[in-house]
Amino acid sequence: MGKSSSLVHFCMIFFLIFLHISPLVTSTPPPKSIYGPFLKCLTSNTSFSNQVSNIVFDKTNASYASILQAYIRNAKFNTSTTSKPLIIVTPLNEHHVQGAVVCAKSIGVKLRIRSGGHDYEGISYVSKEPFIILDMFNMRNISIDAKNEFAVVQSGATTGELYYNIWKKSKVHGFPAGVCVTLGIGGHLTGGGYGSMIRKYGLSIDHVIDATIVDVNGRILDRKAMGEDLFWAIRGGGAASFGVILSYTIKLVPVPEIVTTFLVGKTLEQNATELVLQWQQVAPRIDDRLFMRLLLQPQSSEVEKGKSTIKADVNALFLGGADELVALLGKEFPLLGLKKENCSEVGWVDSLLSWANFEKGAKPEALLDRKTNMASFLKRKSDFVDKPISREGYEGLWKEMIKYGKIGLAFNPYGGKMDKIPCDATPFPHRAGNLFKIQYSVTWKEPGVSLDKKFLDHTRKLYKYMTPFVSNNPRRAFLNYRDIDIGINNFGNDSYQQGLVYGVKYFNKNFQRLVKIKSAVDPENFFKHEQSIPTHPSH
Ligand SMILES: Cc1cc2nc3c(=O)[nH]c(=O)nc-3n(C[C@H](O)[C@H](O)[C@H](O)COP(=O)(O)OP(=O)(O)OC[C@H]3O[C@@H](n4cnc5c(N)ncnc54)[C@H](O)[C@@H]3O)c2cc1C
Ligand SMILES: *[C@@H]1O[C@H](CO)[C@@H](O)[C@H](O)[C@H]1NC(C)=O
Ligand SMILES: *[C@@H]1O[C@H](CO)[C@@H](O)[C@H](O)[C@H]1NC(C)=O
Ligand SMILES: *[C@@H]1O[C@H](CO)[C@@H](O)[C@H](O)[C@H]1NC(C)=O
Ligand SMILES: *[C@@H]1O[C@H](CO)[C@@H](O)[C@H](O)[C@H]1NC(C)=O
Ligand SMILES: *[C@@H]1O[C@H](CO)[C@@H](O)[C@H](O)[C@H]1NC(C)=O
Ligand SMILES: *[C@@H]1O[C@H](CO)[C@@H](O)[C@H](O)[C@H]1NC(C)=O
Ligand SMILES: *[C@@H]1O[C@H](CO)[C@@H](O)[C@H](O)[C@H]1NC(C)=O
Repeated sequence: MGKSSSLVHFCMIFFLIFLHISPLVTSTPPPKSIYGPFLKCLTSNTSFSNQVSNIVFDKTNASYASILQAYIRNAKFNTSTTSKPLIIVTPLNEHHVQGAVVCAKSIGVKLRIRSGGHDYEGISYVSKEPFIILDMFNMRNISIDAKNEFAVVQSGATTGELYYNIWKKSKVHGFPAGVCVTLGIGGHLTGGGYGSMIRKYGLSIDHVIDATIVDVNGRILDRKAMGEDLFWAIRGGGAASFGVILSYTIKLVPVPEIVTTFLVGKTLEQNATELVLQWQQVAPRIDDRLFMRLLLQPQSSEVEKGKSTIKADVNALFLGGADELVALLGKEFPLLGLKKENCSEVGWVDSLLSWANFEKGAKPEALLDRKTNMASFLKRKSDFVDKPISREGYEGLWKEMIKYGKIGLAFNPYGGKMDKIPCDATPFPHRAGNLFKIQYSVTWKEPGVSLDKKFLDHTRKLYKYMTPFVSNNPRRAFLNYRDIDIGINNFGNDSYQQGLVYGVKYFNKNFQRLVKIKSAVDPENFFKHEQSIPTHPSH
């Protein structure tokens, strides 16, 4: 991996260390085995119950550890002290999901629902209360109707599998979702879902036209049966507060046969500060077919030995050809100095491979690799920026980043379609008025308590430095970039107040509607986790 190409791979970038003692990893002693009672309940409450004995794994089972670890995506939650599920249930069909909900509830044990396992805080597979993992990886069917431009995708499918299946059927259709190709559809879509077509097409949830969900009573509901409130809530509000998503029906979007990608960067010695100042003026306003992610990372200077610098890379997808792009940027973003030689003209599916940092020449089949049981240690945070950051702001930021040494930032430009969708169209509120979203990113390879603590501390300090430059009152955050620093709920008496703290950051004014819907569909709060939507007695 070259220095700049390693920056592109969002699944892998920014390698660092810490071990974080959080409420998520303190374990409560589990009750006596629930395996027998659960299996008995499942057998008598599930149609097609003959397969039931093949889908329940208790701790003594030889496959338990490998199934648990397969979709752990943050190595922080793969330690001997991380709390473990009493049992793991791996449904093969929707009846099993219905039975699992009914039986977990009747036995009185919490469910954690896992699709791709990419939750940054491990909320899909770790809990301080005794719990069962409902692991959706077997439910991964995808059917594409290219003629009518829609698809039905089960929640256990990955983004890569979705992209591959679209490509098999049509070279001129795509779907606006994440850059990383091992994300689970279940978690990714319900948290918002965005990728390199966000400026042209908005979020994944803006293209969800139907869904099936198992509710707290074990019923399967489609859009019509669940009603528009619940259908609204699961598109951006985090379905894990409401039920279990079985599948989404999504509208495909047109993509040109040839698209253009590039990755071009400058260091501070090459006037990166000027480049960044121009980027923030241009990237959120330019032609909506162009998405230019800005990646900022400290690295050692090649000019002055022993000194550090900041590398600013611009990674782009343009839904059009290279000549048009070079002409456009020559006019709008001259400091980038983009040349046609810097561009690759490829099919849309190949642009996904390069954004996900597969080797040049990788085949679309590579999108099917689930890369199970592979995880680094990581911490992420997010911010939204609604006014340009000053030169002084950036100069101070470079100093901070160089001081900490390992934290990278990604600036994802908004504008385009994002400005045209009302803030309350979905629970995701961060629409018009946002220039870009920041992701703070620290990734490392080995465990180690003191380094772990150090980098968590550094991330928080960098986040603190950014306070005057980002959204405030509330300081907003992206649900898919799960961050327990912004507040957690222990569901005591003041669970609504606790929920309000993180709720307005993720959902802003949409939080109240989510609480109302939650109170109506799951009044006893069976579907809960550290950052779920609380109920409110007045509803
Ligand atoms: C390497 C990496 C790259 C990423 N890149 C992007 C990106 O480009 N764009 C972007 O938007 N996000 C990105 N993310 C964030 C990602 O979208 C979220 O982590 C998302 O929640 C992952 O979904 P999942 O199914 O893999 O995760 P999981 O950990 O399985 O689930 C996440 C949450 O959703 C719940 N959930 C999962 N499945 C279901 C279901 N079937 N029904 C109800 N609730 C469910 C879980 O309980 C949990 O609360 C990235 C994350 C990582 C780790
Ligand atoms: C499920 O099965 C059990 C038998 O194990 C039965 O007693 C119970 O009524 C069934 N229904 C529910 C909702 O638990
Ligand atoms: C482990 O659990 C699976 C699923 O229930 C079952 O098929 C298998 O026989 C179990 N293996 C052992 C060794 O108990
Ligand atoms: C996936 O589709 C196949 C073929 O239609 C079907 O046999 C299978 O049951 C489906 N699997 C799930 C998990 O729905
Ligand atoms: C862009 O192309 C120019 C001209 O060929 C070259 O000098 C420069 O190194 C390229 N930049 C990158 C980042 O590849
Ligand atoms: C950086 O900007 C300065 C001042 O505008 C200019 O003199 C210098 O040539 C630039 N350096 C590079 C590498 O472009
Ligand atoms: C989890 O830890 C085990 C060793 O205990 C290791 O074999 C496995 O690869 C790790 N998996 C992940 C996803 O970190
Ligand atoms: C919660 O409320 C109940 C009844 O109002 C009260 O008895 C209890 O002490 C409260 N608990 C906490 C932690 O405040």
